[in-house]
Amino acid sequence: ISLLPYNTFGIDKKARFFVQAKTEENVKSAVQRSKALNVPVFILGGGSNILLTKDIEALVLKIEIEGIRVISENNEEILVEVGAGENWHQFVLYCIENNWGGVENLSLIPGTVGASPMQNIGAYGVELKEVFHQLKAIHRETLEEKIFDWNTCHFGYRESVFKNELKDQYIIVKVVFRLSKKPVLHTEYGAIKQTLEDMGISSPNIKNISDAVIHIRQTKLPDPKMIGNAGSFFKNPTISKNQFAALKEAYPDIPSFPMDEGVKIPAAWLIEKTGWKGKTFGKIGVHKNQPLVLVNYGGGDGAEIRELSKKIQDSVKQQFGILLHPEVNFI
Ligand code: EPU
Repeated sequence: ISLLPYNTFGIDKKARFFVQAKTEENVKSAVQRSKALNVPVFILGGGSNILLTKDIEALVLKIEIEGIRVISENNEEILVEVGAGENWHQFVLYCIENNWGGVENLSLIPGTVGASPMQNIGAYGVELKEVFHQLKAIHRETLEEKIFDWNTCHFGYRESVFKNELKDQYIIVKVVFRLSKKPVLHTEYGAIKQTLEDMGISSPNIKNISDAVIHIRQTKLPDPKMIGNAGSFFKNPTISKNQFAALKEAYPDIPSFPMDEGVKIPAAWLIEKTGWKGKTFGKIGVHKNQPLVLVNYGGGDGAEIRELSKKIQDSVKQQFGILLHPEVNFI
């Protein structure tokens, strides 16, 4: 079947076999079926962080496990268990309706709850790891169930154990979040401050923050329903303090964020400076408002997008001596 409806980049590639799993039992029987068919399993969530460059010779297993359940609460906090197949943004809206704080800055991120810990999704000053409690996963070979707590997930910037040491080994089926009934608001991010000010809000609540984030994302980022994309295509690179000092001489306006390990530079700025912002090549291109986002205007080819990303990497490497690493997973 065609995976066109199942990837936000809108690439028309096929899956050899395709199974939708609504329960953990469905997941296990699909894995068994893949063994009988002698094909690998490929796990698909919301398809919002993949670039399909060819057909998938596997049993594509779409995780559709639903449900949001409170497992414990006190006056301060609440633990909520969520099925991996729940839509991330719908979950965020549910939290806001219930006045559970912690995920409001992560409003409107495409994808599913199950995929959120994989790459420790983050935006506007908050990362998933700040609200993560634990998750339940099923091993792809043994079908053994395992609970991963905060420490065993090894979260990093757009990283977790599931992208590294345990890559392609586990299927996430449930995620438990620790949310707050007395939320600490994160309004430090410049764009949020500005938007709240424009909205005339001086003492915001979580709903106001969510609305501000939704507004910012809708103005800056292309809606995957209209224009195919997978959010940021590259990660923001961190360079050494020495390399930064040298670049600052050549480019006094270079934006930067100090980190423990060095200095983080916005990839968007590097891509803009190398002249790629807003460029279109047939059916694909670099977004006009946010050059970190590569886009498919319709009918674009995944391999072409990969080639475009290589050219961008080359330009940035040549001009700045910085290698950009993709955030999107190439298939
Ligand atoms: N910038 C430019 N030109 C542009 C746009 C941005 O030079 O056209 C520079 C500016 O200096 C700006 C800086 O880039 O201050 C940062 O831009 P922005 O706030 O849009 O964030 P980002 O660093 O490009 C990251 C995440 C996004 C997340 C936003 C908001 C990564 C790889 N991306 O982007 O996450 O929404 O911050 O917090 O860390 C995603 O991961 O898919 C994603 C969209």
